[in-house]
Amino acid sequence: MTAAARGGVTVRVPAKINLELIVGPRRADGYHDLSTVFHAVGLYDDITVTPASQWAVTLSGPYRHLVPETGDNLALKAARLLAQRAAAEAAADPEPAEEVEEPSRGPLRQVPSKPEEPQGIGPVHVHIAKEIPVAAGMAGGSADAAATLVACDALWQLNTDREVLDELAAELGSDVNFALTGGTAIGSGRGERVAPVLSRGRYHWVLAVAKEGLSTPAVFAECDRLRDDRGEHDIPDPQPSPDMMAALRGGDSHALGAALRNDLQEAALSLRPDLQEVLDAGLEYGALGGIVSGSGPTLAFLVDGPEGALDLAVALTASGVASDVKRAVGPAHGAHVLNAPAGTPLGRK
Ligand code: C5P
Repeated sequence: MTAAARGGVTVRVPAKINLELIVGPRRADGYHDLSTVFHAVGLYDDITVTPASQWAVTLSGPYRHLVPETGDNLALKAARLLAQRAAAEAAADPEPAEEVEEPSRGPLRQVPSKPEEPQGIGPVHVHIAKEIPVAAGMAGGSADAAATLVACDALWQLNTDREVLDELAAELGSDVNFALTGGTAIGSGRGERVAPVLSRGRYHWVLAVAKEGLSTPAVFAECDRLRDDRGEHDIPDPQPSPDMMAALRGGDSHALGAALRNDLQEAALSLRPDLQEVLDAGLEYGALGGIVSGSGPTLAFLVDGPEGALDLAVALTASGVASDVKRAVGPAHGAHVLNAPAGTPLGRK
């Protein structure tokens, strides 16, 4: 039986890589101001939410054992956050009462046109069919949270304003907003402020996924440590680089390959020196550019087309330096509904 037939909603959400990640100084709240170019690639998680008697999350797919099936799961937090927000809004701003005539009693009386809590909002079972590597610098957890917001919004027929979804997304994590948007976009603030960027072309990527993940806070902390050791205290406010903007405007994969930049790369390599060998191998085997994705440890190699991608994937696998090699094309669409129950605005009749 399909999710829609069971009364569920399925949302597909892509992984991301960062084409550019410029890290500013550490802020008082512990985060770092960033200027980043997010790029969604066609490697997806599918999230299905179904009404249930209690809040629950389950996983399937090759990485399922690496993600908690508990209340700590960010997707479950997203579902609860949207439910709370919708209930609070309904309580604060009940629909205006309608006047109805009651023939038996004569005079008019006031009847609320809507119950205090929107109907249908309640516990859901979130199922994550996971293909995005975990703790890999590809924002898989953030993607699941974004997809859950979109799925619950459709399931509960809330039609939440995009502004509100963005507010909730930012509360959940720095990369959640971009997973709602997808495509190629500039991120600023701690990454949660997402704006469109003029970008052309489709890009082919080979992703070398490491066996063991890296912790994002640990990589940012290592970046700070390396900067402190060098006495770098005057870190400029991060700005998008002209080279990256020109490469994206031109849709030129060679220029893009040359413009790839990640300020967290040095820190990721410092924590995982073994990645350097994989990076060198990818470039030696003909990639147009190679970079640590986000906080790593995934390495993203840009190639000039599908054949180049296949060649590089085979070469990396055969050389034994990378065990899990994937291919993906970007840009990809942000979180989007695949199916919804019949009769809802997004569902088929
Ligand atoms: O926002 P998110 O939960 O994804 O961030 C995880 C961690 O990564 C933060 O607790 C922080 O240590 C680090 N981080 C940062 N600056 C950012 C984004 C994340 O220092 N802009």
